[in-house]
Amino acid sequence: MARKIVVTGGKGGVGKTTVCANLGIALARMSHRVLLMDLDIGLNNLDVVMQVEDKVVFDLVDVVENRCRPSQAFIQDASEPTLYVMPSCHLAKRQISVDQIKKVVGRLEDNFEYILIDCPAGIDSGFRRAVACADEAIIVVTPHLSSVRDADKTVAELVGNTVVNVVVNRVRGDLVASGEMLSAFEVFSLLGQTALGVLPENDDVNCNVRKCSSAAFDMLANNLVTGKCEMYDCVTPYKGIFGKLRRKLKRNA
Ligand SMILES: Nc1ncnc2c1ncn2[C@@H]1O[C@H](COP(=O)(O)OP(=O)(O)OP(=O)(O)O)[C@@H](O)[C@H]1O
Ligand SMILES: [Mg+2]
Repeated sequence: MARKIVVTGGKGGVGKTTVCANLGIALARMSHRVLLMDLDIGLNNLDVVMQVEDKVVFDLVDVVENRCRPSQAFIQDASEPTLYVMPSCHLAKRQISVDQIKKVVGRLEDNFEYILIDCPAGIDSGFRRAVACADEAIIVVTPHLSSVRDADKTVAELVGNTVVNVVVNRVRGDLVASGEMLSAFEVFSLLGQTALGVLPENDDVNCNVRKCSSAAFDMLANNLVTGKCEMYDCVTPYKGIFGKLRRKLKRNA
């Protein structure tokens, strides 16, 4: 039976969809059977990030409303044969209940080892619907106080038996080394939840999801699978004399 994990974080734009997509790719590269499920209904873009938008014939709403079987809606990834994407629909006004989505997830969970659920921003009905389908949550947070505050509120909204793990995204090692940005460890301690991963700010993410720092995502996937706690080090390269030089170069870039 699949581990059902919602990728959430409260604040918009912190990287929930990016983490969902890249973590799915990293898990599939480890040969796990993974389904990425877009529950950001109306503002969905997981299909775009995963570059499958041209292949969408049916979506989650078609499955919920019995116009197709789940297997007709999910799309196999072009590079990773054990990775699938269940696209969502672009019509925000579709009323889909928690029970309907849970039923779909229930029909799929025996076919996958991991179901990663991309959650909408906020903590309202869309959030509740996504969270209700999962047993675990990955809280994506950036090293900014506004994001940490929203992540903290999100944790408080999660029901008691949801396992909570935290991923700090968009860490700039140069700014952490110069004391201008919160470190990932400060964020973990502010949230008081289990640390799952650290992801660097990476310009490639914006261009192509498959090009971004796979070392950090591999570490994240490995921690998720094994329960280990190895963190990607974005800061050490910016420490010491050479680090100072790198910081200067980065600042002027
Ligand atoms: N580590 C990173 N380095 C650089 N850019 C990033 C990183 N993570 C995410 N981004 C960029 O930030 C933007 C927002 O990311 P994403 O769509 O994943 O956020 P989100 O939390 O899913 O947003 P929403 O709340 O709107 O669903 C995107 O342009 C993405 O490419
Ligand atoms: Mg998103």
